[in-house]
Amino acid sequence: MAARRTKQAAPAVEEQATERVVAPERVPEEERFDRAFRPQSLDEYIGQSQHKENLRVFVEAARRRGEPLDHVLIFGPPGLGKTTLAFILAKEMGVQVHLTSGPALEHKGALAGLLTKLEQNDVLFIDEIHRLQPAVEETLYPAIEDFQIEIVTGEGMYASSIQIPLKPFTLIGATTRKARLTGPLQSRFGTILRLEYYTLEELSRIVQRSAGLLGVPIDEAGAMTIAARSRGTPRIANRVLRRVRDFAEVKGQGKIDADIATMTCEALRIDGFGLDDLDRQMLRTLVEIYDGGPTGVETLAATLSEPRDTLEDVVEPYLLQQGFLARTPRGRMATRKAYEHLGLRPPKAVPDNENGSGLFEHE
Ligand code: ADE
Repeated sequence: MAARRTKQAAPAVEEQATERVVAPERVPEEERFDRAFRPQSLDEYIGQSQHKENLRVFVEAARRRGEPLDHVLIFGPPGLGKTTLAFILAKEMGVQVHLTSGPALEHKGALAGLLTKLEQNDVLFIDEIHRLQPAVEETLYPAIEDFQIEIVTGEGMYASSIQIPLKPFTLIGATTRKARLTGPLQSRFGTILRLEYYTLEELSRIVQRSAGLLGVPIDEAGAMTIAARSRGTPRIANRVLRRVRDFAEVKGQGKIDADIATMTCEALRIDGFGLDDLDRQMLRTLVEIYDGGPTGVETLAATLSEPRDTLEDVVEPYLLQQGFLARTPRGRMATRKAYEHLGLRPPKAVPDNENGSGLFEHE
């Protein structure tokens, strides 16, 4: 697992002791597990049930017509299963999936090379689609709208363009935030799915399924304990599960129960809400350095020596969802729950929820 935090800790904040087990970004060494744990069909896929039911209909309809599935945009925090869904959709359609990402498509030629290789109704999956170069994005438009690309040959007065027809295909784009996509690109997707954090019960079922694949015995309380500390994210739940299995094998009897799961999470410094050092540091920075806010995300990123994107995509959504952070027009604020969680006495004017309401009720 990669140690992500090598930078200086924020002033007046305790040094981070461990790597981030709860970081939802994919880690290269995990690919093998991710692939082995990945559900293969909509039936096996746990959670996101409304999307699942709709997708079943869209797949069935497209198959009956012999057409590709409409282009799909999937957005939501990292680790919730965007890539998994793309693989499942391709499998349910009985076609191949071709994987790439916004940053990997450095020029138009790279995209053209991929598009011309697609077979009838195949899926092209572009991860981090918001990071496409503008010129590459422009090449994509006619490809997804009319299944053709324009290739320009020669230069200046000798330039001429030829249209190359493509086989009909489905583009599945994934991004952490829909608002990062240009309007024209967004408007070209027929289906837009927003993935939500998983419920405790769903995560617990995912953990039990993965434990079964790993061949490690787990009881319901053990699965629930892991679920509760995995910030609504299957990738984190599966990662925590593997660490709990280590503890169970070395410090326990090889079986996972609530005690061994709690002991592991404490060793990994993941608290009962699934918060780790970086989450607590962000809250502590807001409270101790900026008097609870409001503080701009840029300022917080600079103080914590963390990229703004990490705070916005990974740390904040969960703190907001859990009611530790409020987003107000003037910046982020720590809520009453954040003060209480850090063991600090809240001031009189403190927001009660993520919208910052309740702010003046305690004055
Ligand atoms: N493993 C990771 N995500 C999963 C999901 N949504 N359903 C089942 N198993 C999973």
